[in-house]
Amino acid sequence: MKPFEKILQDNKDWAAQMLVTDPNYFKRLVEIQSPELLWIGCSDSRVPADKITGTDPGEIFVHRNVANLVVHADLNLLSVLQYAVEVLKVKHVIVCGHHNCGGIRAALKNESLGLIDKWLWNIKNVYLQNKDKIDAVDGEDAKVALLTELNVKEQVLNLAKTSIIQRAWKNRSAPDLHGWVYDLRDGIINPIFEMPAGSKVDPIFKYDNL
Ligand code: CO
Repeated sequence: MKPFEKILQDNKDWAAQMLVTDPNYFKRLVEIQSPELLWIGCSDSRVPADKITGTDPGEIFVHRNVANLVVHADLNLLSVLQYAVEVLKVKHVIVCGHHNCGGIRAALKNESLGLIDKWLWNIKNVYLQNKDKIDAVDGEDAKVALLTELNVKEQVLNLAKTSIIQRAWKNRSAPDLHGWVYDLRDGIINPIFEMPAGSKVDPIFKYDNL
């Protein structure tokens, strides 16, 4: 069986198994989705948002890209964010990076990988902003780990710079923003940075007329 055929078969097995444990499972989920969480994570196959959090379908709204970036000109990310915050009215937005992220590792190198160089440019800028701290750390793995954390923090700060988040903070005192790092070695998620609704935003990015 080819890999794609196997996952189609596994899907059938899963759907049948779900009905055994809960005959109304699909009927209930069809009706409505009202997740309270938006997850912005890495595309890495080892970091499936629902699996590592033990959440069920319907519980988290998910956006994933390489190295979990919040880029102000990314129409895809911004559309997901706007819909999640203004229509679904999520209460929490989580940016979750992960240990040994290939995107972070690549951004610290000088090798061109093609189009993705432009995406990794964003991470190189995070490195530049924190150059002294990262250069002071010994070993590539430790540098990757530190940049992973600093990158997550930067992406949470980027969220707070958007008019979408600032408007929601003003109108409904939500969502809270969370920066987490998932450790591939033990499966544990470590919170590293928080911005509760209403947190101070760098003045140059603050919109006073929302
Ligand atoms: Co990654």
